[in-house]
Amino acid sequence: MDGNGRWAIERGLSRAAGHRAGVEAVRRVVEAAPAHGIATLTLYAFSAANWSRPAGEVRELLGLLRDYLCSQTAQCVARGVRLSVIGRRDRLPPTLRGAIVAAETATAGGRTLHLRLALDYSARESILRAAQCAAKSAPHDPPLTAAAFERLIAEAEGSSTPVAPVDLLIRSGGEQRLSDFLLWESAYAELTFTAAMWPDFTADHLEAAVREFRGRDRRFGGLPKRAAS
Ligand code: FPP
Repeated sequence: MDGNGRWAIERGLSRAAGHRAGVEAVRRVVEAAPAHGIATLTLYAFSAANWSRPAGEVRELLGLLRDYLCSQTAQCVARGVRLSVIGRRDRLPPTLRGAIVAAETATAGGRTLHLRLALDYSARESILRAAQCAAKSAPHDPPLTAAAFERLIAEAEGSSTPVAPVDLLIRSGGEQRLSDFLLWESAYAELTFTAAMWPDFTADHLEAAVREFRGRDRRFGGLPKRAAS
């Protein structure tokens, strides 16, 4: 969800105002996602690297996330949205940790959409922790499989079970990089990039990305469909 800061600066506003406008875009996308057949949506809301931002901006972002969880939980329950958070929790303020647990508990029965917020998240850290955990296994344990390693990554991310691999990754704000987001899970993800700044991202941008995704020939290392038949 890149571009909040630039969107705000272009309008002579504070970066905090850009993040607030970004929350509106989050609401639009969460509402639109199920109609596009999206079952799991992971939003990169705060990376482990974002701690390096000025303390005021960090405070604003974490406050917005807490307010979002508190204000949206009832609506998530009504719409069948299951909310969960991946990433480290030990460095988050206690009020935010409390809001996460309350939102996860209240929405646990949601089946329409699994909305995951990545907070204090680093894909490399999760993979490293999974590898450290695997390295502790006894020499006579069965060889580690990809499925077992995925379970270790999920545990390292703080989720109870692994989710399906990422199909489509969308980055707004004109940058074309992954920034330590779901690196293992995105092994065969289709990548789309839009110049739109995140606060300008609408349901139409989501639809355009899904349309582009559906037009892609996903070969997973195999042959193009026509050549294979
Ligand atoms: C990157 O844009 C965006 C973030 C670091 C924060 C994303 C947060 C939100 C969209 C709001 C809260 C989210 C939820 C789920 C309620 P940037 O600030 O780096 O933008 P820039 O590249 O233009 O400076």
